[in-house]
Amino acid sequence: MSEIAGRFLTIEGIEGVGKSTQVARLSGTLRERGVDHVVTREPGGTPLAEKIRSLVLDNAAGESVPATAELLLMFAARAVHLANHVEPNLRAGRWVLCDRFTDATYAYQGGGRRLSMDHIRQLEVMVQGVRRPDLTLWLDAPVEQALQRARERNTGAVADRFESERTEFFERVRAVYHARAQAEPDRIHVIDAAQSSDAVAAQVLEVLWKRTWIS
Ligand code: TMP
Repeated sequence: MSEIAGRFLTIEGIEGVGKSTQVARLSGTLRERGVDHVVTREPGGTPLAEKIRSLVLDNAAGESVPATAELLLMFAARAVHLANHVEPNLRAGRWVLCDRFTDATYAYQGGGRRLSMDHIRQLEVMVQGVRRPDLTLWLDAPVEQALQRARERNTGAVADRFESERTEFFERVRAVYHARAQAEPDRIHVIDAAQSSDAVAAQVLEVLWKRTWIS
């Protein structure tokens, strides 16, 4: 097995900022440059964690999902994903490119649902130990612009439990991402996602280049 651990890179942002597109583009660039990596997402990323994802995202008919249940399901999915996918790949020297991680829990369950940040921190330590992303790219755009894009993309599809939320909810989510980016500027890089997909992809590559992760 390789002695060099892989890099753990996460991508964050509210719905409609173009995360999935940028993850796919970055993966393509890494492939071209011969960087061994896997692409994954949260909640999800393994068969069991994807089942938990369905449980937590589907609009359960008639039954409420308490915010604490949502929080615990996010971390249950994370525990499964870390043990079976993230950690083994990092140990094997592969980069792990993950669409959302624990910053999303602080933003959505802490900011959006107003759960205690201390409880989230406790679960983070319980589930992750010292594991944190090496780098996080926060794709940021004004809430109205992002939600408009998400609505255009989703025409005809049934909205999940988060997509059904209102503007104020996403303003709170965005505010927590913002606060976290200010508190951890070395790890969390803000990317201006209001621009074209090409311009956003260029910003992403520049961050990796500045870190000398790619040449
Ligand atoms: P996605 O649509 O970007 O795959 O994300 C699924 C939803 O899950 C998204 O609305 C954000 C939400 N989410 C949380 O609320 N907490 C979390 O910890 C994670 C990872 C996602």
